Amino acid sequence: MNRATLTRFLIDEQYDHHAVPADLRLLIEVVSRAIKAISINVGKGALAGLLGDAGPGGASINVQGEAQKKLDVIANEILLEANEWGGHLAAMASEEMEGPHAIPHRYPKGEYLLLFDPLDGSSNIDVNASVGTIFSVLRCPDGVTDPSEKDFLQPGRDQVCAGFAVYGPSTVLVLTLGRGVHAFTLDRELGSFVLTRENIRIPVDTQEFAINLSNRRFWEAPMQRYIDELLAGKAGPRGKDFNMRWIASMVADVFRILTRGGIFLYPRDNKDPSKPGRLRLMYEANPMAWIIEQAGGAATTGRERLLDVIPTSLHQRVPVMLGSKNEVAVVSGYHQS
Ligand code: F6P
Repeated sequence: MNRATLTRFLIDEQYDHHAVPADLRLLIEVVSRAIKAISINVGKGALAGLLGDAGPGGASINVQGEAQKKLDVIANEILLEANEWGGHLAAMASEEMEGPHAIPHRYPKGEYLLLFDPLDGSSNIDVNASVGTIFSVLRCPDGVTDPSEKDFLQPGRDQVCAGFAVYGPSTVLVLTLGRGVHAFTLDRELGSFVLTRENIRIPVDTQEFAINLSNRRFWEAPMQRYIDELLAGKAGPRGKDFNMRWIASMVADVFRILTRGGIFLYPRDNKDPSKPGRLRLMYEANPMAWIIEQAGGAATTGRERLLDVIPTSLHQRVPVMLGSKNEVAVVSGYHQS
């Protein structure tokens, strides 16, 4: 079968649908090339000595206070280096860096801001399970030439592109430009991403949920009630049995939901009052929320639509509930009542 490559898909979006300007197309191509490079590094694993913690004593800590893996650092560097010189960006921000990364003065600057989690689910690296890269693209505010943190603080509904890659048995890139969600599989022989799923739609109902159940005692009452009712199955108030999956890698859990439906939950908990949730709004929750909505699902904090949250800081954390529409409506109903 003659399938479109990512390049061909983007050219069609640019000329036939006017859905992607040339510089945004370049940006996506550059990010996809970086993703190929990260995929190659992830695939080498122990052969290239890439497993384990970063830092000489194995104890490097990132801005979030989390232990950095070698591959976190490598993936971050690959994305920074690939995106510095193309003239498509005004600045970048990453989970691994405290503040925005400016484009060096020797390179041209563009109109977009790129945010990323270079290696999501990195606790899975050493156990050889799926990890991924998540990214979000915003417009740089008019007249701003040296963007600072406040220029990035735009709600998720203003994204112009969102995507993620899963480094699993195959490497898959999932993308939205606001005209549906499409998946591209990396053809390792050709070195190209090839369109393998067009206009992905998530079933509105589901009997499968994803949550880290070990946190139950820290959750708020509406979340405890919701999960207890799912666990009660046929005999409980929901009147049906539910299955559970938790890969502990958001990219892989969300890809499953895009494939067969489901609900993914990382709710607020009271383990650490300074953290109203685990996942980061700007480069985890927002891009995933837009992708899920574009595929016909829903995404909420429990109290408001995720894409409407007004950010207050680059590394802000939020509660996340997303997936099949009717199930997300039940859990947010419990939070609002
Ligand atoms: O930091 C993000 C992340 O790794 C997600 O990819 C994943 O869903 C979650 O954290 C896993 O959390 P936990 O370690 O509580 O299972």
